Amino acid sequence: MLLGVNIDHIATIRQVRGTTYPDPLDAVAICLKSGGDSITAHLREDRRHIQDRDMARLCTIPDLHVNMEMAATDEMVGICCDLKPIACCLVPEKREELTTEGGLDVIGGEAYLRPAIARLNAAGVRVSLFIDADKAQINKAIELGAAVIELHTGHYADVTGQARQDELKRLQDAATFAAGMGLIVHAGHGLTLENTPDIAAIPELKELNIGHAIVADALFKGLAQSIADFKALLR
Ligand code: PXP
Repeated sequence: MLLGVNIDHIATIRQVRGTTYPDPLDAVAICLKSGGDSITAHLREDRRHIQDRDMARLCTIPDLHVNMEMAATDEMVGICCDLKPIACCLVPEKREELTTEGGLDVIGGEAYLRPAIARLNAAGVRVSLFIDADKAQINKAIELGAAVIELHTGHYADVTGQARQDELKRLQDAATFAAGMGLIVHAGHGLTLENTPDIAAIPELKELNIGHAIVADALFKGLAQSIADFKALLR
C-alpha cells in the first residue's frame, strides 16, 4: 500500500506568518527517504496554504509522483492541465470550511464534473474523485471517466465505538465494490496512527493520503520519523 504525504500544513505554518519558511518543498526528499511514495498538495481557491509557485515547483521535480488536490473549477483545471502532475484528486471546496468536510457529490455535480474530468484525462492527468463510501456515487464516478476514487475517511475518524465499526464496514464494502468495478481505490482524511491500522487492513486500498497527523506528529519526533511510523503501519 502506497503512502501519499500531504504537505499542505507545512505551507500553513509558513502562510500564517507570511514568511518564506518552512518551505513545503524541503519535505519532498525527507518524504521519499522515509517511505512516502507520493506528494499530495491541495491548491485551494483561497490559497490558504499551498501557493501556485509551490505547485509549479513540485511539478518540475523529475520522477516525483505529484497528486494535485483541487476543486473542479475552470481555473484549477487549467492550472492542472498546464502543470501536468501525474495525478489529481477532485474535492468539494467551501471557503468557510476548515478542511474538506465531505465527499464530492458526483451525481449532483455531473454537469461540471464531466467536462472537467474529460479535460484532465485529455491532458494525461490521472483523475481521482474524493467521495463518500456510496455505491451510487461510485457508479457515477465510473460513468464520468475517473480512473481512481479516494474514499473519504473523515466520518470514520470522527466517531468511536460501534459508530466507527459501522463506518469501517461501509468503507470496506465500498472498496470491495469499487475495486470489483475496475477502479483504483484510495482513502484518506483524518487518519492518525491510532485509527489507520483498520483502514490499512482493507485489501482493496492501494494508497492512503495523510497530512495533518503526519505534520502534527513531526513537531515532536521529526518529519522523517513521523512518515516512517505511518509507512510501517501500511506495511
Ligand atoms: N485526501 C483528501 C482528498 C484531502 O482533501 C485531504 C485533506 O487535504 C487528505 C486526504 C488528508 O487529510 P488529513 O490532512 O486529515 O490527513
